[in-house]
Amino acid sequence: MPLVPMRQILDEAAKGGYGVGAFNVNNMEQIQAIMAAAEEVQSPVIIQASRGALKYSQLNYLRHLMLAAVELNPGIPVAMHLDHGNSVETCKQAIELGFTSVMMDGSLEADGKKIASYDYNVKITREVVEMAHAKGVTVEGELGALGGIEDGHGAGLAADDSEHLTDPAQAEDFVADTGLDALAVAIGTSHGAYKSMRKNPKTGEMMPPALAMELIHEIHKRLPKCHMVMHGSSSVPPELVAIINQYGGKMKEAYGIPVEQIQDGIKHGVRKINVDTDSRLAITGAIRKVFAEEPAKFDPRDYLAPARTAMQAVVKARMTAFGSAGHAKDYAPLTLEDMKKKYTAK
Ligand code: G3H
Ligand code: 13P
Ligand code: ZN
Repeated sequence: MPLVPMRQILDEAAKGGYGVGAFNVNNMEQIQAIMAAAEEVQSPVIIQASRGALKYSQLNYLRHLMLAAVELNPGIPVAMHLDHGNSVETCKQAIELGFTSVMMDGSLEADGKKIASYDYNVKITREVVEMAHAKGVTVEGELGALGGIEDGHGAGLAADDSEHLTDPAQAEDFVADTGLDALAVAIGTSHGAYKSMRKNPKTGEMMPPALAMELIHEIHKRLPKCHMVMHGSSSVPPELVAIINQYGGKMKEAYGIPVEQIQDGIKHGVRKINVDTDSRLAITGAIRKVFAEEPAKFDPRDYLAPARTAMQAVVKARMTAFGSAGHAKDYAPLTLEDMKKKYTAK
């Protein structure tokens, strides 16, 4: 199966009533882990690279690794997606590299830090939609702003900031004004491992983040055909944090997004679920374990192979929980050319 437009993966997920994990990658082992999990449970998959990832790996290395994934796994629908594009130029570059989907994150200005105005967001997202759809490429936009900072990207809002959540009425206008394919919503999730600032007022203990799931319900009511995206959706399993700390790590108490809340979102129109931190935790724990237990080892394969296996297990668990497992062979792939025709027919 060739690379498919992400829009097809999301349309099919909507038909089947499931969600699809979008997993961030920076290197070969992470791509291999995702593909091995997808083969294991027969799931379609979205592989995504942030600007930081493209810089780290250099654009062409990542592109060719993703193409190798498609070549070696012909039975799996794969979309190649740019995560948090910050400008028309970055999106254009990704499209030229062969990405079948881009995110134009106009919720922030081009510096990836300042909260942008609604008008700026509409204008820049619309511009990317016009450019991308002319080539059959899918576009994700974002309304509202997430907390946390990843690799310099983020407004530095508190983890469970509630002032910049997505307004459902504005979401209706945003989707109509931009013509995007998928809408990333801010409902109280944030990037990274530390997603909650909440403390129990009586005991002083940390509590999981409070999510405004009702906003997803309301947006789905208003826009039943809109594919929603949940960013910052790692579950931060305590057992993965415990492995890291058991082998010399110093992570603080961390809370993620319970899978049950994501499943509730999926019932109400969430089709793409972004997961990066959980993979990072699995990889780091596995590497620390080898270093701690077998300090004489020095062949990178001795720790990168278990790291890959640990990430595969997390990805497989998410594909199963989001309901995408078993759906790889449901449909024939569309090409970007097919998709282009669909967009022009609208
Ligand atoms: O946007 C969030 C992802 O976790 C990407 O993180 O920019 O450090 O690659 P990154
Ligand atoms: P996490 O940090 O929760 O994995 O979120 C990743 C993400 O949203 C990438 O865009
Ligand atoms: Zn994100």
